[in-house]
Amino acid sequence: MTRRLLRGRTLSFLRFPETIDDLAACRYEEDGGLLIEDGRIVASGSFAEVKAKAGEGVKVVDHRPNLILPGFIDCHVHMPQMQVIASYGAELLDWLNTYTFPEETKFRDAQHGRRIARLFLDEMVRQGTTTVAAYCSVHKASAEAFFAESHARNMLNVAGKVMMDRNAPDGVLDTPQSGYDDTKALIAEWHGKGRQHYAVTPRFAITSSPEQMEMAQALMREHPDLHMQTHLSENHAEIAFTQQLYPWSKDYTDVYERYGLLGPKSLFGHCIHLSEREADALSASGSVAVFCPTSNLFLGSGLFDYQRFRQRDQALRIAAATDVGGGTSYSMLRTMDEGYKVIALNGEKLNPLASFWQITLGNAEALSLSDRIGTLEPGTDADITVLASSATPGMRLRMETVGTLAEELFLLQTLGDDRSVAEVYVAGEPSKSAIGV
Ligand code: GUN
Ligand code: ZN
Repeated sequence: MTRRLLRGRTLSFLRFPETIDDLAACRYEEDGGLLIEDGRIVASGSFAEVKAKAGEGVKVVDHRPNLILPGFIDCHVHMPQMQVIASYGAELLDWLNTYTFPEETKFRDAQHGRRIARLFLDEMVRQGTTTVAAYCSVHKASAEAFFAESHARNMLNVAGKVMMDRNAPDGVLDTPQSGYDDTKALIAEWHGKGRQHYAVTPRFAITSSPEQMEMAQALMREHPDLHMQTHLSENHAEIAFTQQLYPWSKDYTDVYERYGLLGPKSLFGHCIHLSEREADALSASGSVAVFCPTSNLFLGSGLFDYQRFRQRDQALRIAAATDVGGGTSYSMLRTMDEGYKVIALNGEKLNPLASFWQITLGNAEALSLSDRIGTLEPGTDADITVLASSATPGMRLRMETVGTLAEELFLLQTLGDDRSVAEVYVAGEPSKSAIGV
């Protein structure tokens, strides 16, 4: 049995922090302890208390003065786009055609998929992200590579091969039947194996024919407990093209609605240009809108209206994500820094406690996985990120004037990146130091 007692400033969340001084939403211990046994958190609280429970002989890992948080969660990211990130000069549809689809064609080669899956999960761990909802390429082998790598590391991840059967080059197309068959086989092999979760992944309405959308619907009927992930209302040209392809639809959301794809385990990337009707339909079904700030700025897509969605009568469930390679950083700290600016451009603020809630418990709730991840509660999985607030000379200097936890978190969000991630535990095992970077 592997046992470890982590010591440091433990911080987790109980609910959305409404204001910058809403400390009742947080569980914070200045000298905290976290006892880990066989991949699970078995006790948390003050160090003295947890140490007394742990008894003699337990290995203590002293992370003071660092913060110990639940591992970060990225609710929308594209594994095959590590060599797409930082591609110049295009909006969504041109960006897909010019850079993304050609790059994803390379994943025909299973060897390439295995290499990138390994580097991708290394990068996630380096950045403090312990769970992703990932898109693989259309090729079954890319999802196999992802899950094999994820399973070998004992990570809890959600992923699926994209289904796409039109409006893209042949090298990245499946057919309604092969998309269905490959997805079925992947579900059978990977869903529920260790910590792996399968997500049915029709890429978006433009690249799926009505026949393929019916197949996606059939898959969700046959496996109602699965996640579903896709893109929605990211860009004006995308919305207009979708309307042309599905002329009977009331709006973009209606396309997914007609094929039964809305629901509490459905993740819709972007949701920037939604009408009130669309927002109502998403909220009534419990669907999740995924905020991808760096991507939305980089591709010039628009400003996600986080506070409007939260505060409307029928609140929307919201997740946050990098959307690499449309996104420009693998870091959830960098992502929330840009998120703060997007929200500011909408005339609102997101307080730093809420930011850190979002990338931990908030995203876990958005994935319906908060019974396992996103918290430091006993009984949950020991996916943990350790943050150093003085990781750079500039941060150290600014820390001299920081007086509250909220100020410190805002500094971490504004100036922090992978350098602030001192260690990451995946299912209780030190994993960032194990990569050796
Ligand atoms: N819409 C369909 N595919 C994609 C993708 O790969 N990235 C982004 N940002 N939007 C998409
Ligand atoms: Zn995306």
